[in-house]
Amino acid sequence: MRTRVAIIGAGRVGSTTALRLAETELAEIILLDVNAGIAKGNALDIVEAGPIRGYDIKIRGTDKFDDMQDSCITIITAGFPRKPGMTREELLLINAEVIKKIVEEVVRVAPETTIIMVTNPVDAMAYLAYRVSGFPRERVVGMAGVLDSARLRGFVATELGVSTETVQAMVLGSHGETMVAITSLTTVAGVPVPKLISKERLDIIIEHTKKSGQEIIELLKTGSTSYAPSAAIAEMVETILKDKKKILPCTVFCQGEYGIRDVFIGVPAKLGISGMEEIFQLPLTSEELKTLQKSASAIKTQCEEMEKFLQRVKA
Ligand code: 2OP
Repeated sequence: MRTRVAIIGAGRVGSTTALRLAETELAEIILLDVNAGIAKGNALDIVEAGPIRGYDIKIRGTDKFDDMQDSCITIITAGFPRKPGMTREELLLINAEVIKKIVEEVVRVAPETTIIMVTNPVDAMAYLAYRVSGFPRERVVGMAGVLDSARLRGFVATELGVSTETVQAMVLGSHGETMVAITSLTTVAGVPVPKLISKERLDIIIEHTKKSGQEIIELLKTGSTSYAPSAAIAEMVETILKDKKKILPCTVFCQGEYGIRDVFIGVPAKLGISGMEEIFQLPLTSEELKTLQKSASAIKTQCEEMEKFLQRVKA
């Protein structure tokens, strides 16, 4: 059977992801939304770009979970996006209700799938998906670090007037205020950025990385970012489907790595056909490790909120 990828949520992020995946021709796509019209309309629109863009793709828009039967990857983008002035964390309980229902359906129709969680706050939503699905941690991964690292790469490249291709970056931790830019491993042609950019400027660039999602949402007024998040999602999907074994910053369930336990957090992870295949232990400075662990405690509070939520809904 052809490889099938399901995208739940046919809003800006979900539909742009569907378009990016269509252009890879790597899989049949199921674009699922509670509003069947949105899913079907966007699916048709993507198909009709195929003759121009040179891809042949099977893509189906639907509101039925049964149509995503046995999808090998399930991308969850559904939920409420931030409004201007909101933090990602403020979406916690509103989106918990949405994600719990979705994950229960996903388990029913695609019990072997790998979940890529996108809905914010992604650290806590990935934790909730892990708890509700009962999947092994290898098959629940959050998308955040690839996006945040891309933003940092772009801002560093602009600062130095170089191609983004010569900049590597690793942004770990939460996809929120406590994200951690590992400057010792952010390099330009292999040179760590602290040797090229002053601390003052680097601090400003890192702050911009943290705030860039919000900056775009303030400008858009309604809806969320989509082009950069969908590019990050597509990078993760391609890495998994092609079994590339790339090490990417992903939101995964730490069980002692980096001294962090029972928390979904952004760390370098090897992605391959079985999902998250290994957590890669970087040589962080003691300062970087302390900041990462501080980020983990901020997320832990959200995960504890999710446990209380699960107790409440079970009652
Ligand atoms: C972002 O930072 C949507 O959280 C995502 O753009």
